[in-house]
Amino acid sequence: MGVTGRPWWQGAVGYEVYLRSFQDSDGDGIGDLGGLRRRLDYLANLGVDLVWVTPLYPTPDADHGYDVADYLAVDERFGDLDAVRHLLAEAHGLGLRVIFDLVPNHTSDRHAWFQAAGADRNSPYRDYYVWRDPAPGGGPPNNWVSNFGGPAWTWHPSGQYYLHLFLPEQPDLNWAHPPVRDEFDQILGFWFDLGVDGFRIDVAHSLVKDPELRDNPRLREVAADAHPRVVHRSFNHLHDLDQPGVVDIYRRWRGIATAYDALLVGEVYLLDPQRLTRYVAPQDGLHSAFCFPALQTGWDADEIRDALVRGTAAGAGHLAWPLSSHDDPHAAMRFGGGATGARRALAYLTLLSGLPAMTFLHQGDELGIEDGEVSPADATDPIAVRTGRHLGRDGSRTPMPWDTTEHAGFTTGAPWLPLGANRSERDTVAWQEGRSGSHLEQVRTLLQVRRTRPDLLGDADVVWLDHGGPVIAYQRGATVVACNLSGEPADVPVAIRAQFVSRPDPAPLPEPTRTLPGDTAVIGDVAG
Ligand code: NOJ
Repeated sequence: MGVTGRPWWQGAVGYEVYLRSFQDSDGDGIGDLGGLRRRLDYLANLGVDLVWVTPLYPTPDADHGYDVADYLAVDERFGDLDAVRHLLAEAHGLGLRVIFDLVPNHTSDRHAWFQAAGADRNSPYRDYYVWRDPAPGGGPPNNWVSNFGGPAWTWHPSGQYYLHLFLPEQPDLNWAHPPVRDEFDQILGFWFDLGVDGFRIDVAHSLVKDPELRDNPRLREVAADAHPRVVHRSFNHLHDLDQPGVVDIYRRWRGIATAYDALLVGEVYLLDPQRLTRYVAPQDGLHSAFCFPALQTGWDADEIRDALVRGTAAGAGHLAWPLSSHDDPHAAMRFGGGATGARRALAYLTLLSGLPAMTFLHQGDELGIEDGEVSPADATDPIAVRTGRHLGRDGSRTPMPWDTTEHAGFTTGAPWLPLGANRSERDTVAWQEGRSGSHLEQVRTLLQVRRTRPDLLGDADVVWLDHGGPVIAYQRGATVVACNLSGEPADVPVAIRAQFVSRPDPAPLPEPTRTLPGDTAVIGDVAG
C-alpha cells in the first residue's frame, strides 16, 4: 500500500526501458545498468512512477534477452548484481519503483536445465521441458506453430521433439511439472529480496499447455510463405494458450509478491478483454495486465472507443494501458508519423493516462518520435532475419536519441543497432528539454497535471460520456478527459474547464470550452 491507502501502482505511469538501447556507460555500444543509473534523474524529472527494465539476465541473444540462460544473474554486458543494488537504491531514493522482466514460458536452449535435459533422457531436468515422440506417421507431434515462424517443435538428438512456442533456441518450460513451479518461487524471492518492486511477466497467458497436446483447429489456409504472424493467426489457439490452471500459477506468485508489496503485471496477449480479465479480476492473480487492443488501433475513433470501452468494462480497474512497446511501432508512427503523428500520440497518451490503473510509455514516446529506420542489412530481430522479411521489431528498438553528439549520446562506441537514419536534432532530449511546447515538455506537464487529480489516480469508475462521433470522452469523479480524433474542431459532450490541453500553442481554450481543436485531448473539470 502507498501512503494514500491505495496500492502504490494504482494510478502509476510506467516507462519501459529497453535496456540495451537506453544508455551505454562503458563504450561497448550496448545500453547497460550503469547507463540507466545515469538517466534516473531524467526519468524522475519526467514524472514517471515506475520503470520496467527489459531482461538483463545472461543470454545468448537469440531473441535479445528473452532467451534466458540464468535467471539468478546479470549478463556481464549489462552489469552485475551490485549494479542492480545501486540501481534500486538510487531509483528508490528518487521515488521511482523498478520492475524487471520475468520470462517464465521458456528458457534459452543454453540454460543449464535444458542442457542437462537434452544430455540425458533420465536427467531430473528432462521433465522441465515438453518432449514428445514423433506423430504416428512421423513428423512433429501436433500442428502447433511457433510465433516466429515454422512448427513449434524441433527434433533433438536425444531422440524426441521438444516444444518451443517461439524460437528453437527458446524451449518451453513444462509448468505441469511441480519442480518448475518451485524454481520460480525461488527466482521471485531472489529478486524481491534484492529490492526489485515487481515483474512484467512475459507471455503470461501461455505457460500451461493442453495436457494431451491436441491439434489447434485451423481457421483458414494461408500461403506457405506468409508472415509468421499471419500463420499464427490462421489457427484457433484452443490448446497452446490461455489454458485452465494458468491463473493458479499467478495466485501462488501473488502470495510471494504480497509479502514484498511487489507488483505482477502480465503480458497477457489475449485480444478479448473478457478472457484477459480472468488473470486480474479474481484479485488474487496478477495485479495488472496490459490491454493490447489499445496499442493496436489506428487513429480511428470507433476502433479506439471499442478498445477502451470494452477494456475498462472487463478489466475491473486493473489494466495497464500501453502507448507503445519494444514489440510494436512507436505511437507517433502508428498514428501517421511527422508532426501530426506526434500530436495524435500525445492526445492518445492524454486519453489513456486518465484510465485506471496504469499507463505505460516506451522509451522515446516522450519525444514523440517515430521508429528509427534500420536497413534490411542491419536487421537483428529474429522475425526479420529468419524470415528474410524486413518486418521485424528493430525500428522500435533503436537507441535513445539523447543529443546531437556522435551516436546521439547513447554510446561512445559503435551502437549495437543503428540510431535510425531518419533521426533529426528535434528528436533529441537535448533539443526538447526546457523548450516550451516541445513534446517532452508537454508530456512532463501532462504527468504533473495528472498527479494533481486524485480522481484519476484512485479507483473511481469510468463513466463514458460520448455516444459515437469523433470525440471520445469519459468522466471519473469530477474530472473529465476528452479527445477529438478528427482533424477538425468538434464539440465535446460537457463543458470543460481545461487543466491540460495536448497542444503546443500557448493560446488557451475558452473557459469553459465545449469545442476541442482537431487531434487534441484535454483533462479538466466538468463545468456544469
Ligand atoms: C514478448 C516479448 O515482449 C518479445 O520481445 C519476445 O520476443 C517474446 N515475448 C518471446 O519471449
